[in-house]
Amino acid sequence: MYPELERAAQLATQYLQKVDDCRVDDALEPEKLRDRLTKKLTTEGIPSQQVIEELFDDAGAGLLNTSSGRFFGWVIGGALPVAIAAEWLTAAWDQNAGASAVAPSAAIVEEVAGQWLKDILRLPQSASFGFVTGCQMAHFTALAAARYRVLRNKGWEVEVQGLSGSPPIRVLVGEHHETILRALRQLGIGTNAVVQVAKKDDGTIDVDALKSELAKVTAAPTIVSLAAGDLNRGAFDDFDAACDVAHDYGAWVHVDGAFGLWVAASERFRHLVNGVDKADSWATDAHKWLNVTHDSGLVFVADQDAHRSSMTIPAAYIPAANKVETPLRDQYEWGPEWSRRARGFAVYATLRALGRRGVAEIVERCCAHASDLVRQLGQLSRVEVVATPIINQGLVRFLSPSGDHDTHTQRVIESINATGEAWFGPTRYDDKTVMRISVCNYRTTEHDIERAVNAVKTALDRLN
Ligand SMILES: Cc1ncc(COP(=O)(O)O)c(C=O)c1O
Repeated sequence: MYPELERAAQLATQYLQKVDDCRVDDALEPEKLRDRLTKKLTTEGIPSQQVIEELFDDAGAGLLNTSSGRFFGWVIGGALPVAIAAEWLTAAWDQNAGASAVAPSAAIVEEVAGQWLKDILRLPQSASFGFVTGCQMAHFTALAAARYRVLRNKGWEVEVQGLSGSPPIRVLVGEHHETILRALRQLGIGTNAVVQVAKKDDGTIDVDALKSELAKVTAAPTIVSLAAGDLNRGAFDDFDAACDVAHDYGAWVHVDGAFGLWVAASERFRHLVNGVDKADSWATDAHKWLNVTHDSGLVFVADQDAHRSSMTIPAAYIPAANKVETPLRDQYEWGPEWSRRARGFAVYATLRALGRRGVAEIVERCCAHASDLVRQLGQLSRVEVVATPIINQGLVRFLSPSGDHDTHTQRVIESINATGEAWFGPTRYDDKTVMRISVCNYRTTEHDIERAVNAVKTALDRLN
């Protein structure tokens, strides 16, 4: 009855069965790809099944197979089959999860999954939460709540009065991702508000330096941004001490735990997030370490009133009446969007399938593979380990006899990626070009690590 749906399911399954054997970078050059994908828009349209088959072939020719267990670039999780299956249902149901009245199951599923997430991430059970597109929008939402509260404490109602003429907010940061700065731009706080606090050698915020900064202007409405697992080393700030100091000065503490917050699921790594529950807001992704499909970020806020006040808006056509009888949670009150996909279904299904132990197992397995990969690379000649993984992130660089290690490292990375056997990304760290290693995919196995190490050896043999 729906041949295009059945065909899409077959093709998707076929893709997943083959992805581990595919080249990781399997994309045609952009021009060829563009030629292939640039079709004529027809007046009469063409049969759906044909469209799906051609999409599979044409777009499939331009994939960086980030789903592969040998993809170690950026911080990109895989997609568990249960998450993909739940996404298919989500699309078929096509619920508008903005308001509970148009999507009752989506509202309750997010309510339930929200509680489970707080349990797994060891966050206060009383915190409010939102399902957003990614960690970027989780920062935006959390920092909007922070903006509301720190200005409200100074007698300024930003949602009504705007920012013009308000007391200037300052944002004290340690190690931070660019998405924090982008959220501050989007919120009109601006990046001039950012004060970089000194960091210790291990990359974590220096709590004494944080205290000195806080003491400089005690009257300013202040937000402190901390990191649970930074992008390069996976370092964790001292949440216990930093939260205490920040709160002594009336500051709001936000935590970026895009992937690092998930270590709370593991008994082995949980100590790294000691005291994180003392913060005021937290941002993370389900599409990273939980291995849910993309477009799945999560925000949590301790101050429910600040969270809701910064996001909600009354609308005449949203039926408030049924709330009294059967109170249901309206997602638009907890996130920046209005109409939206019911992205909670995939999170709910994934958490049910994995259980607490399953989440911990993925985290621990990825950390073990990251550590193995970096150790084995470090044993190769002319490979310098720049950062040994604390969790799942590490850095290495390749030393050139000429002394130009930056150019050489860049070339080695390109050469590894050209083998199609593994994929790594370059970055700048400590004024050096380095290769970043991130293991975030449930699919990665010991065999993938072996193949990746061999790909590095091949590239080095070719270039040395
Ligand atoms: C530490 C950190 N914060 C924030 C982000 C942004 O996450 P997203 O791409 O889901 O918005 C990333 C992405 O890699 C990250 O590593």
